[in-house]
Amino acid sequence: MLKSYWQNYYKKDNGITAPSDFAVFCYENFISKEPNGELIDVGCGNLRDTEYFLNNDISVISIDQTYCPQQRIISKRFIHMKASVDILPLLKFKHCYMRWLLHSLDIHEQRELFSWLRKNSPPGNKIYIECRSNKDKLIDDSSHTRRLIDSEQLIRLVCTNGFKIAYMEEGRNFSKIQEDNPLLIRLVGRRV
Ligand SMILES: C[S@@+](CC[C@H](N)C(=O)[O-])C[C@H]1O[C@@H](n2cnc3c(N)ncnc32)[C@H](O)[C@@H]1O
Repeated sequence: MLKSYWQNYYKKDNGITAPSDFAVFCYENFISKEPNGELIDVGCGNLRDTEYFLNNDISVISIDQTYCPQQRIISKRFIHMKASVDILPLLKFKHCYMRWLLHSLDIHEQRELFSWLRKNSPPGNKIYIECRSNKDKLIDDSSHTRRLIDSEQLIRLVCTNGFKIAYMEEGRNFSKIQEDNPLLIRLVGRRV
């Protein structure tokens, strides 16, 4: 979904390079406590959060359906792949990090993603999700559509695929940029 939109977006050097608040939150509260193990940054975009995790000595595999030309990281602990979510069954991970990915996927891709997570996650593995909530006002942006996420449905999806909710919050002020303060869902799940 939206592949050409993201291809054009990353052709311009307009990505924010500072880590997101969500990356810092996940690292400080969860990932730093279990730093041994691969993190997959799914839908990594311009690698802003990948770079932050690498700087904190976490090994990262980053995948995105489009290749960001501003790729600037050189590290032995880093693999960057131009691939869609369907490559995930081939990868091993401890932490699966997905910021602003879910609302970019169509329902079929989302179903495949969670089916893969259920089959490939040993107990203790964690997933980290931040996405736009459907309780927000409709976004007036004709450049691309987003599939806003219902938090109750997301909880059901996560739990029916073998994860327990370790943390969940829905609200604003998680990612405020000037006038833009979207209503977001944050969720951390632990494979049981
Ligand atoms: C809103 S951006 C988020 C980028 C980054 N995670 C961040 O927080 O800055 C969504 C990203 O998901 C990627 N994406 C969308 N569908 C995908 C798919 N099926 N497989 C892999 N990446 C996908 C897009 O190319 C885009 O880079």
